Amino acid sequence: MPMAVDAENFYSERAKKMRASEIRELLKLTQEKDIISFAGGLPNPLTFPVEELKEITRKVLEEHGSMALQYGTTEGYIKFREAIAARMKRWGVNCTAENVIITGGSQEALDLISKVFLDPGDYVIVGAPSYLGGLNAFRAFEANMITVPLDENGMRMDLLEEKLKEARKKGLRVKFIYTIPTFQNPAGVTLNEERRRCMIDLAEEYDVLVVEDNPYGELRYEGDDVNAVKAYDNDGRVIYLGTFSKILAPGLRMAFMIADDPLYRKIIIAKQSEDLCTATFNQYVAYEFMKNGLLDKHIQSIIKMYSVKRRIMLDSLDEYFPKDAWWSRPKGGMFCWAVLPEKVNTVKIFPKALKKKVAYIVGSAFFANGGGENTMRLNFTHPTDELIVEGVKRLSEVIKEELKG
Ligand SMILES: Cc1ncc(COP(=O)(O)O)c(C=O)c1O
Repeated sequence: MPMAVDAENFYSERAKKMRASEIRELLKLTQEKDIISFAGGLPNPLTFPVEELKEITRKVLEEHGSMALQYGTTEGYIKFREAIAARMKRWGVNCTAENVIITGGSQEALDLISKVFLDPGDYVIVGAPSYLGGLNAFRAFEANMITVPLDENGMRMDLLEEKLKEARKKGLRVKFIYTIPTFQNPAGVTLNEERRRCMIDLAEEYDVLVVEDNPYGELRYEGDDVNAVKAYDNDGRVIYLGTFSKILAPGLRMAFMIADDPLYRKIIIAKQSEDLCTATFNQYVAYEFMKNGLLDKHIQSIIKMYSVKRRIMLDSLDEYFPKDAWWSRPKGGMFCWAVLPEKVNTVKIFPKALKKKVAYIVGSAFFANGGGENTMRLNFTHPTDELIVEGVKRLSEVIKEELKG
């Protein structure tokens, strides 16, 4: 074996600051076979449309092989982009294929956005809590975060205004507000319409962009659809991210951004050097799935399965969790968020939960600037119905023991 190189000599200043996420380490512990895990953010594999995709894959190879296996344009397959633009009307967004960029997962979109808009020392406004993958993408480009607390109606607009005002006073360069407005990851809450309009008003007043990340909006189990924040965009300052990960299959890595010129053009230039184009073959497959009406039917079947699981999770929490805990009652998506009495530290009780063969994600991981030590995220889409009940029961025992001690 050759001696290992002294890697530190070679890393960029940026890479030196990158840290492995603690969450990944904790997640490894949750993957033992007999653990009931509320930790992951995974769709339930029973929803994957394997048979349909077998047929579509064959069809794509037979009918479009020479195109589907070739490099494509950086923007993406035009028919796919047209279909996506047409679908956006459901959320009140008027756009054309010329506004759509296909990306390899929304995670790539978050990286591209960071690359295009963030200089070291810039500020991003994020929810407290917010999606860890987003926070890590912004951190990788050496941005600082300003956090705004959420309540049961999503990000608090009074506090957003306060933070924007304060940042202006201090002369901080705030580039964008990062929001997951519908069935938020991790909190499960949804920004109401009034706040969506208000977010746009504030973004205009303080001249910042808005990055709207919406992986869960189509998974609604209760209530009426809401317009996207982008629907209220007056001057092309909102970049919208959608993905097929939660409504088709994350393994396809198919997602999209909606942006207006001139931001659109700049993002395309950045994407050219990132990956030339998103996997052409997968774009053809996802398009065929959409085109034949299979996607809408498929989403209905996912909703059927997940809405039962959500009900079971909420009923179990009602039955077993301590009464002085609070948890969100998500009308869609994949997560419940629990806020426990202050004295329960969810990092500290994590090993005790593992001993009882149940796992969750510690909530503090989702707070960019600290806090949330008494919170946890619970995924309800992955475990079986029976194991959701059993898992919540075990978790409640751990929490109640801690409260007693
Ligand atoms: C809020 C949010 N944004 C982005 C992503 C990444 O999605 P994708 O699989 O499209 O990269 C996730 C995945 O869980 C997410 O929850």
